[in-house]
Amino acid sequence: MVVIGSGLAGLRAAIEAARVAKGKISVAVVTKTQPMRSHSVSAEGGTAAVLYTEGGDSLESHMWDTVKGSDFLADQDVVERYVSLAPQEIIQLEHWGMPWARRKDGKIAQRFFGGQSYPRACYAEDKVGFYEMSTLYDTCLRYDEITFYDEWYMTKILRRGDRFAGVVAMNLKTGELTLFKAKAGILATGGAGRLYSFATFGHSSTPDGYAAALRAGIPLKDMEFVQFHPTGLVPSGILITEASRGEGGILRNSKGERFMERYAPKAKDLAPRDIIARAMVTEISEGRGFKTEEGEDYLLLDLTIIEPEVLKKRLTSIREICLTHAGIDPVNEAIPVRPVAHYYMGGVDADKDGATLLKGLWTAGEVSCNSMNGANRLGSNSTSECLVWGRITGEQAAHFALTHQPVEPEKSDVEAEEKKIYDFLLGPAPRVNPYDVKKDLQKIMEGHFHVFREKSSMEEGLRRLRGLKRQVELGVEDKSRYYNTNLMNVLEIDCMFDVCEVIGASALHRSESRGAHFRVDFPQRDDDNWLIHTLVHRVVDGYEFGYKPVVITKFKPAERTY
Ligand code: FUM
Repeated sequence: MVVIGSGLAGLRAAIEAARVAKGKISVAVVTKTQPMRSHSVSAEGGTAAVLYTEGGDSLESHMWDTVKGSDFLADQDVVERYVSLAPQEIIQLEHWGMPWARRKDGKIAQRFFGGQSYPRACYAEDKVGFYEMSTLYDTCLRYDEITFYDEWYMTKILRRGDRFAGVVAMNLKTGELTLFKAKAGILATGGAGRLYSFATFGHSSTPDGYAAALRAGIPLKDMEFVQFHPTGLVPSGILITEASRGEGGILRNSKGERFMERYAPKAKDLAPRDIIARAMVTEISEGRGFKTEEGEDYLLLDLTIIEPEVLKKRLTSIREICLTHAGIDPVNEAIPVRPVAHYYMGGVDADKDGATLLKGLWTAGEVSCNSMNGANRLGSNSTSECLVWGRITGEQAAHFALTHQPVEPEKSDVEAEEKKIYDFLLGPAPRVNPYDVKKDLQKIMEGHFHVFREKSSMEEGLRRLRGLKRQVELGVEDKSRYYNTNLMNVLEIDCMFDVCEVIGASALHRSESRGAHFRVDFPQRDDDNWLIHTLVHRVVDGYEFGYKPVVITKFKPAERTY
């Protein structure tokens, strides 16, 4: 079987598959970066799970917070499964060597995150992703069943009828294209990444997995919901973890006001991200923000009120990041921040098990939309979601591979993919610099599909996106075979076009406001018409919308106040 992607979800899936397979199948991990360069490494603040109930916390409370945080668009059977399996993953990681931070009594420590009623985020300083990835990678290396194909870029998902048949991937070191035939696959390529210029994502995070799924006939679900994390460091966009506020930090405007008191009187600076991001953009647009010399807007995150020793011990990387990238020490000075593209709630349509409509292909992690996060994800739920669905999909895919015969991919699909890539290499050099095209595309997304959205602006954004795609003939300047990152980047940009268009069309389609999707022309949530998941299918001449019901088990949709 093949796992595509080597972040938290991919590595966790590979381990589970190897455990189930007990030497009877081989697991290939195809990854465009060396695993320890996967974007998961940069996760900072925490991994949510209910570990202790003596203070009043419960699985039901975690479930409620997640469903309410999702603005009631989460599938509740999926959330229930998540909250019940997340604690096992924390302990499992501990057994594999994860150095979780400790309480004074020696038990695993937990901190507060936005929208979570109890401290549930397990952490290791503020380098959670780095330690989790080290733990998982180390564990993977103990399994002979797992083979890593580092720096191999997956370009196509192959099918035969309704069965998954494998993937095409390019060895970046040699330029060689290879067919990975597999009985089962797990798509774990991470979030859609840098579709916006101000983003927390690493530059390698691009929507390759989303585009490959769409092109293989698998719909994308709920793509209108893009999360803007409140605190991106200005001007770089590097994440300043929400754990900074979990440890006591607060946001201030140019009048020195703790403005979140007005927008979320109870939760304040620990309200969910959609609410804080809107509050921040409102403060800025009403003139209570700051501007850098270059004209960039920002507000302040004040950590000077945290005990310096606590800050230095628990927010180590935040201090390092601020010292290195902003020249300020947060112990003494507030940090310039503004909302930054951070996470995509939507993704490749998957069921409760992470299975896609292509038999034999599962998906896990941010690229997947199993509808756990609905219209807005709560901070610290993502890394645990990766672990939980890494485990589930790894187990399911391995069982499938053990009990099914392989299928041959369509020869014409493989040939068409080969031709597409060699046409780029053999074709003329581009007239337009693809890196400028990428910047233009990101500008369109920033300008038309940001925190606040409106019909005419989105229509204009879609026109500009489609115009840019029509005008530009993507091509590669570098014609060499070895480490041709120019070729890979152009293929990535091609994927970005497809996925930006789906986001734009989905945002325009949903005429209500819910979670991270706020329409100034439809400012209310509309459960009568829009308590429903949107699906986008690729058809010959464009896209078609479809719908899926939201699974509601325990909690009826209610007003969402904090
Ligand atoms: O703020 C953070 O540390 C981000 C966490 C998350 O997105 O879950």
